[in-house]
Amino acid sequence: MNILILGSGGREHAFALKIAQSKLSDKLYVAPGNSGTQNIAKNISININDFNEVKKTVLELNIEMVIVGPEDPLVNGIHDFFADDSEINSIIVIGPKQMAAKLEGSKDFAKEFLMRHNIPTAAYATFTKQNLNEGYEFLSSLRPPYVLKADGLAAGKGVLILESLQDAKSQLREMLIGEKFGEASSKVVIEEFLDGIELSCFVITDGENYKILPTAKDYKRIGEGETGLNTGGMGAISPVPFANKSLLSKIEKTIIRPTMDGLKKDNIEYQGFIFIGLINVNNEPKVIEYNVRMGDPETEAVFPRIQNDFVEIFQSFKNKTLDEINIKIDERASATVVLVSGGYPNKYKKGLKITGIDEVINSTVYHAGSIQKGKDIYTNGGRVLAVTSFGNNFKDALNNSYQSASKINFEGMYYRKDLGFDL
Ligand code: AMP
Ligand code: GLY
Repeated sequence: MNILILGSGGREHAFALKIAQSKLSDKLYVAPGNSGTQNIAKNISININDFNEVKKTVLELNIEMVIVGPEDPLVNGIHDFFADDSEINSIIVIGPKQMAAKLEGSKDFAKEFLMRHNIPTAAYATFTKQNLNEGYEFLSSLRPPYVLKADGLAAGKGVLILESLQDAKSQLREMLIGEKFGEASSKVVIEEFLDGIELSCFVITDGENYKILPTAKDYKRIGEGETGLNTGGMGAISPVPFANKSLLSKIEKTIIRPTMDGLKKDNIEYQGFIFIGLINVNNEPKVIEYNVRMGDPETEAVFPRIQNDFVEIFQSFKNKTLDEINIKIDERASATVVLVSGGYPNKYKKGLKITGIDEVINSTVYHAGSIQKGKDIYTNGGRVLAVTSFGNNFKDALNNSYQSASKINFEGMYYRKDLGFDL
């Protein structure tokens, strides 16, 4: 079948590599794609949030499956758009409908869902500009640090963690009255701070059955020792070494199963990936967020460890037969190191020539913010490349990725050399 992947990051390159390997895949397209997907698929330059444009492309190219990489088309209702149109409703869309995508699109909706189904999470309250004063009072009742979250999508920037009560109050005002994150911060969730170590769980579901995919840990800050500004993600390790059998079974029992049951009870149809961000507090895992897609760079660490035919997995969504598929996992560890533009996540240059990718032999280089012009590849974004390697353990895997990364070069290139420091 002909397949279209939506998105342009390292995550979408990782999807494309898996799909391209499937014997069930004929023509593969990526919109808009990048220099990595260009060599294994055909890139199509369309706006993936313009669903009429996506529909036109899908009909023209005879596409039978659409895989949605990032969250915004899902939160904007791309799956509903397909389901409600008789010309395209037989196409398999990988990613949940709009109602389910609210689990990522609205933090308040996600918190209500967690509370309703007794799933462990931080205590919270939600405020709007109408009850700003109650927000101040609620902050005064908490101990520092203070966690403020814009309700809506804010490109990963909507969470503030503040040490002083005064800063927390003024930021709450900035978000609600000053529209710091625009419409996204017209509601703000204030949360109890959880002190523990983070990990991420990935689940795939056809709406009836679910399978748990390998865990991963990502590194979000730009600086070593998890310091400095938040980024899209500077690297990932899979599996998470401290996620032993007993922790994993606790996560399944107290979080994953109640999430799946909760979706059913609430009549929320869900097909696709669920990415659950967790903090392990004294061996009690608690949910910090749901994402309705795979993570980036987590995908680049997790997917290489999954040995299945991905199209076969996705096709099982049609008749809800995911239970018949046995997910085969490579037992080795994988580690992804993200190479970013100098200055990222603030201002950075684009259009710098990248050298050395061809010299990498023991790793997979996923392209993200990069474009090809002629034979050469140039930087075109903040997170430029993601280098993934296997190893007997995460340290081995990291060393292999660092060795490969040292062969690649572009002006200002930066990557964190301390990944895994906390494990
Ligand atoms: P989120 O966008 O919800 O993933 O939040 C971004 C980051 O903020 C998370 O990866 C955590 O590091 C941190 N965070 C979010 N909520 C909490 C919390 N309740 N306690 C401590 N840290 C948090
Ligand atoms: N790496 C975090 C995310 O994809 O949201």
